[in-house]
Amino acid sequence: MKPKITITREVFDDTIDYLKQHCEVDANQADQAYSPEALAARLAGQDGLMCALTDKVDSTLLARCPTLKAVANIAVGYNNIDVPACTARGIQVTNTPGVLDDSTADLAWALMLATARRVTEVEAYIRKGEWTGWKLKQWLGVDVHHATLGIIGMGRIGQAIARRAFGFDMKVIYYNRKRVAADIEQRVNARYVNFDELLAQSDFIVLQVPYSSATHHLIGARELAKMKPSAVLINSTRGGVVDDAALITALKAGTIRAAGLDVYENEPKLNPGFLALNNVVLVPHIGSSTEATRRAMAMTAAKNLVAALTGAVPPNLVRV
Ligand code: DGY
Repeated sequence: MKPKITITREVFDDTIDYLKQHCEVDANQADQAYSPEALAARLAGQDGLMCALTDKVDSTLLARCPTLKAVANIAVGYNNIDVPACTARGIQVTNTPGVLDDSTADLAWALMLATARRVTEVEAYIRKGEWTGWKLKQWLGVDVHHATLGIIGMGRIGQAIARRAFGFDMKVIYYNRKRVAADIEQRVNARYVNFDELLAQSDFIVLQVPYSSATHHLIGARELAKMKPSAVLINSTRGGVVDDAALITALKAGTIRAAGLDVYENEPKLNPGFLALNNVVLVPHIGSSTEATRRAMAMTAAKNLVAALTGAVPPNLVRV
């Protein structure tokens, strides 16, 4: 008998076709996010769950799903899943590392360039028909080239961001919980500094750490006060790593120059303070959202799930 699985959100047809070869599939192509109640009901008697970062897999849900054996997240981040609770119940958890590194790094760079050169601000201005002609001092931005880029979190995505800085002749410094190996530092041309040094020296600060209780509000009022008044902060990792209210205060006061954000606390509900500011570029959690990457993420999650449910070791097992 084929294992039974539930997919909580819309995925690509080829992902479903692959899963159907191995499993009985309950898919939600209508893409309406399930409430915790509805999800528990759908999971009755199911062996596997393929979910997204919008689904909370916590001990309350797990207690109601005694047949569940594997949870495959369609994301590299898995802060939506209580992994210790899953492990305690013998449920395997997987994620999708690797396939989204370059797309996510590209988006961090898109935010850097857009904030530095005020791309969204000037686009709004031109669309309003307010442009009357060229002026020497019009819409002055700041240079990305030859600036200092500070990367907090030097994992695979942090490294991909650093590699791109080479073409912009940037000086790259980084902070990581654990200093990375010398050959990686050399390859990405980045120098390790302590956290406060990075805050004080960087022109652009990019956050690339996973969200956890240890990184909750890693950037708050104290850290923002340590940045240069000309600093630009980019958060393309997870909401909650930045204290959004403190960031809004800093952006309003001009304590830092600008921010580029892909992720937010309590998303999709944005702190309305952001909407009133011109010095922030806002995009809706699209870091990995290219067609090729999202397809690869969905297929990676599907392969992880099939492996977990057919007695193989899933390629991307999350271990606690
Ligand atoms: C991830 O993989 O964690 C991304 O945030 C999903 O878009």
